[in-house]
Amino acid sequence: MDPVANPFRPGAGRRPPLLAGRGPVLDAFDVLRRRAEELGEGDRSWVLHGLRGVGKTVLLNELLVQVGSRGWITAKLEATAGTPLSVALTSELLRSLRTATGRHPAPRLRRLLGMFKAFSLKVDPASGAFSVDVDIAPIPGADSGRFAEDLAALFTVLGETSRELGIGTLILVDELQEASAADLTAINTAVHAIGQGQAPLPVVLVGAGLPSLPAQLAEATSYAERLYEYRAIGLLDGADAQAALTGPTSLRGVDWDPAALLMALDVAAGYPYFLQAVGKHVWDVAPGPRIHVDDVVLGGEFARREVDDGLYRSRWERATVAQRALLRAMADLAGERPVAVADLVGPLNRNRVQDLSVARTELIKKGLLYAPERGLLAFTVPGMSSFILKQSA
Ligand SMILES: Nc1ncnc2c1ncn2[C@@H]1O[C@H](COP(=O)(O)OP(=O)(O)OP(=O)(O)O)[C@@H](O)[C@H]1O
Ligand SMILES: [Mg+2]
Repeated sequence: MDPVANPFRPGAGRRPPLLAGRGPVLDAFDVLRRRAEELGEGDRSWVLHGLRGVGKTVLLNELLVQVGSRGWITAKLEATAGTPLSVALTSELLRSLRTATGRHPAPRLRRLLGMFKAFSLKVDPASGAFSVDVDIAPIPGADSGRFAEDLAALFTVLGETSRELGIGTLILVDELQEASAADLTAINTAVHAIGQGQAPLPVVLVGAGLPSLPAQLAEATSYAERLYEYRAIGLLDGADAQAALTGPTSLRGVDWDPAALLMALDVAAGYPYFLQAVGKHVWDVAPGPRIHVDDVVLGGEFARREVDDGLYRSRWERATVAQRALLRAMADLAGERPVAVADLVGPLNRNRVQDLSVARTELIKKGLLYAPERGLLAFTVPGMSSFILKQSA
């Protein structure tokens, strides 16, 4: 069928034609939004955790859309190992505060803008040149130079100002598992601070990252377990996966032969990224306007190749011989399930768990594996084990 009309969007952070199965999360967020707007109150911040390609970034973007049009102060940033979170946050908040100045009465923003200016000058002295408004005088309070305290003070003034304006502040941090331990501590401290008063301030932080993120936050500060609402973002169940494929096609007058649909669902196995890839390739090869089994056989094969090349092969090729041996042992032993590192010692002909620690650490650093719990290892990408079992070396 016409590739121009192809509705599917495999890729990183690309908005799917139909955001399947995330209704409960979006409904819960709507409650949070209304509490902020109608009562001036915040609720617990969120942590979204899940494997690669399940739709965490897409979900963050969706939350941003929900409040962006309602005048909220927002910042969306991505934690990266190289950049301190404070710098990324400053530039993203600056963008949003500039928009806010055109939208809300200046006197009501004065304290926030003054404190933000002092904060940003401390974080990144060069940022003064791009400040929200040259006439704003810096106001002390969030510029001690100790990031955790300053962030807490900044979140507090953001919350107080938002409450006065009848809006909220939404801070989204993607790939939060990449943040340094010090930055995670600062985030926990700031999120803790906004919940302290009589009524929690309407500042919501939503962090997204790999399944190791909850444990990393808890390691940074012990109270993190109770600080956030943790939401696992996972594979889609049968009905939702089906909706992800058939919703977008039916809007374009295309339907599926039932056997073809079952086969496509089987290939994608509920994995959101794979559903988009299968949808896209099947659409491209199908003469239409009905999708048949033959189309899925061929399109499914193309989709598998795309996912193999884009997702699995690059990761596999980044691994050294020793690291590959470990990956293969994991796939042999447990398929997709987490493996105890201790159980890999024998199959890899080593004597002790410590003998595996270099490979283990490197594979975690490269983003192929994560530790769901102490002593365990698992793949970060769904379907990685079946790919590995097909590789010859
Ligand atoms: N709920 C959904 N329904 C259908 N398709 C989805 C859904 N969520 C995400 N997708 C699709 O899955 C793919 C991956 O989404 P996204 O990049 O948000 O995943 P991610 O969890 O952020 O991955 P990573 O951990 O690699 O950053 C995209 O092609 C997107 O369109
Ligand atoms: Mg992402």
